[in-house]
Amino acid sequence: MCGIVGYIGTKNCTPLIVNALKRLEYRGYDSAGVAVISHNQLQVQKKAGKVAELVAIVDSHPIVGTVGIGHTRWATHGAPTDINAHPHMDQQRRFALIHNGIVENYMTIKHRLEREGRTFTSQTDSEVLVQLISLLYDKVHDFETAVRLGLKEVEGAYGIAIICADEPDKLIAARKGSPLVIGIGEDEFIVASDASAIVSHTRQVVYLEDGEIAVLTRTGFTTKTIDDVPVTKEVEEITFDIEQLEKGGFPHFMLKEIHQQPETIRDAMRGRLLPAEGTARLGGLDSVKDRLRQAKRIVFTACGTSWHAALVGEYMLEHYAHVPVEVEYASEFRYRNPVLSEEDVVFVLSQSGETADTLAALREAKRQGALGLGIVNVVGSSIARETDAGVYIHAGAEIGVASTKAFTGQLTMLALITLMIARMKNLSVIEGQRIVEGLQLLPELSKRILSNTQNVEKIAEQFKDARNFLYLGRGYNFPVALEGALKLKEISYIHAEGYPAAEMKHGPIALIDENMPVVVVVPQDDIREKVMSNIEEVRARGGRIIAVATEGDTDIHRLAEHVITIPQTIPMLTPILSVIPLHLLAYYIAVARGCNVDQPRNLAKSVTVE
Ligand code: M6R
Repeated sequence: MCGIVGYIGTKNCTPLIVNALKRLEYRGYDSAGVAVISHNQLQVQKKAGKVAELVAIVDSHPIVGTVGIGHTRWATHGAPTDINAHPHMDQQRRFALIHNGIVENYMTIKHRLEREGRTFTSQTDSEVLVQLISLLYDKVHDFETAVRLGLKEVEGAYGIAIICADEPDKLIAARKGSPLVIGIGEDEFIVASDASAIVSHTRQVVYLEDGEIAVLTRTGFTTKTIDDVPVTKEVEEITFDIEQLEKGGFPHFMLKEIHQQPETIRDAMRGRLLPAEGTARLGGLDSVKDRLRQAKRIVFTACGTSWHAALVGEYMLEHYAHVPVEVEYASEFRYRNPVLSEEDVVFVLSQSGETADTLAALREAKRQGALGLGIVNVVGSSIARETDAGVYIHAGAEIGVASTKAFTGQLTMLALITLMIARMKNLSVIEGQRIVEGLQLLPELSKRILSNTQNVEKIAEQFKDARNFLYLGRGYNFPVALEGALKLKEISYIHAEGYPAAEMKHGPIALIDENMPVVVVVPQDDIREKVMSNIEEVRARGGRIIAVATEGDTDIHRLAEHVITIPQTIPMLTPILSVIPLHLLAYYIAVARGCNVDQPRNLAKSVTVE
């Protein structure tokens, strides 16, 4: 989703801002722009398309200055055109503003400004905001006051950075619902929507909270609320390395991240397993252990791939911890009137920790008195900071828009949480030890899958022109079928549906003919024979089966045109292995179709608007 960069310091900021924008490309965007104060005047360059197109303009017409802002836009209000790209200026060209989020009451404000004689060049809500600030500036003659007063009128969400030609030695940033972080360098400060744009300059950062505004100069910055109450901020350290933002020899971030999984699965467990006791110790949940044991119900809420992980968590927890679990789309949860009590525990799952719907669901859960816990990847993200307690999955920066290693990290964490709760309740130490052993083997087993991907590549080549795919699975692997289908849709633009294998006969079976590839996840578990029957049903109608099955399963070859094998593990952990070939299949199909795997069309890495 939109990316924000702002710089104030002593260096020429245009190349610096453009490079930082490149670091934000992974978030998904459709246009880019920069504004720099040069000789006390605002210079703006912006363009629909990729940052590379902006670079071409900036290279041919360089702008030099030491205060500036840059933006990658993911269109909400108005098409992705040059004019709608950010930064936006006011009519008098005194202010340039970049904005993430949505000004929901922008039409009301716009009509008022039009009555005051303002005219607009773009269709965006963001231009309305900069014009409002400009109008207020005419009255108060003070940059900071005008920004604060303007923001007080906004309904909706924003992360903004704004500069003013009349006060050229200042940069102002503010947030409500859209993340912003300030990087602290030597005689320089960088504002960004995420830390990946900052880490090559400094590791020292300050995270703005909702309703806060920062006024930056070359020598320091102040923070306060938009109601003018000073706020003291803590300086924190970025924990990831610049190498994590590079492809490390892989053609795409997605492939790199798939191959990182033996490590990231290990990292999710590191220091958290207690083999002798057959349980897990999760420091982040220590303070709420009793409430977890006594929980009458656990609710998981999340979006997209994180929601799929939550579905697997439901199967794990109900089976081993005998606690009722519900899984909710965060976007629905927030607008229903969910019935919650203080005895409920609500877990939110999010890779980015910034998904607007998930954050709102967390707030709703807490408002109703439930315990709000997080399973998050990005350290210091909004969700991580707003939960009552929680755990990080430690998967490192995930840059590919399609989530892969974060999914297996979430599943690993859900297995640890299940183990911890189940052992506090009814699970025997022997059973617990069996799960611990299964978990400890996962890094090696996933490495085995990744050591030979040629089979998947060949299958991808053969099916790359299919127009539809069906994905089937049951039990723990039903959510894996959903995930496989989502990944294929996201990056290859092939229509795909995920279904519980047995549910297929209640409708989707009508789609099956000799052109329909059907991917079936059928590992060696209690429900295998049932899935085999479902495969027979597909075969009887001519469907082409691609099976993900356990090594040594010879019978599957009788029915499946292609078989991808995974090593044996305990049923609860199979999704952590079975999803790997599905992510690879989506990847290789997308590559074979010439798609932009890391930045698929229309998608954003972290969805910070509703
Ligand atoms: O950062 P989050 O886990 O909260 O993101 C949720 C979804 O937006 C995300 O999983 C999305 O579905 C991915 N593009 C899936 O690959």
